[in-house]
Amino acid sequence: LITVLIVYCKQRGVDMMNKNLVDAINTQINYEIESAHVYLAMQSYISTLGLDGFENWFGIQFEEELAHARKFIKYMNDRGARVEIRGFEDPRNEFSSILEVLEVSLAHEKGVTDRINNLMTIAHEVKDYAAVSLLQWYVDEQVEEESGVQTLLDQLKMVEVKGNGLFMIDKDLGQRVFVDATAQK
Ligand code: FEO
Repeated sequence: LITVLIVYCKQRGVDMMNKNLVDAINTQINYEIESAHVYLAMQSYISTLGLDGFENWFGIQFEEELAHARKFIKYMNDRGARVEIRGFEDPRNEFSSILEVLEVSLAHEKGVTDRINNLMTIAHEVKDYAAVSLLQWYVDEQVEEESGVQTLLDQLKMVEVKGNGLFMIDKDLGQRVFVDATAQK
């Protein structure tokens, strides 16, 4: 019976993750889902501005955040750790302009980066190198997340958030399609 149990555990990849790390990843899973809501609320606000491209872009942000959550959930399942789905506060629904939406987005992504970095610190402390490997994906992803929002913000400021420039940026963002980066590794 013991042999059967050991084989079962090995097949399930069960190697008892550190409890603090499990708790911290659960917190992050829920924050990724909360981030999806943050972007969905932004997308809904943008739909009132007639900026279809930005609306499309923020809808894809929503999809990306859910994919980030799912990647963590799959990892926890693979390691035999228990996922805990929790609730969170209402997201912000009102903004003064598209510029403010982008500024809030950038601040949000910087906050996500801090959280991922903290998780990485815990994974190193408990010497969970499998988790370190997973978290490296998120570290790299955050570079792209921040850079994408920063670029948009710079472009908006460049055209002073108006006229043909704004029209062209919006048109360009309408071309963006969701590509699940979490499926690539
Ligand atoms: Fe899941 Fe936008 O970071």
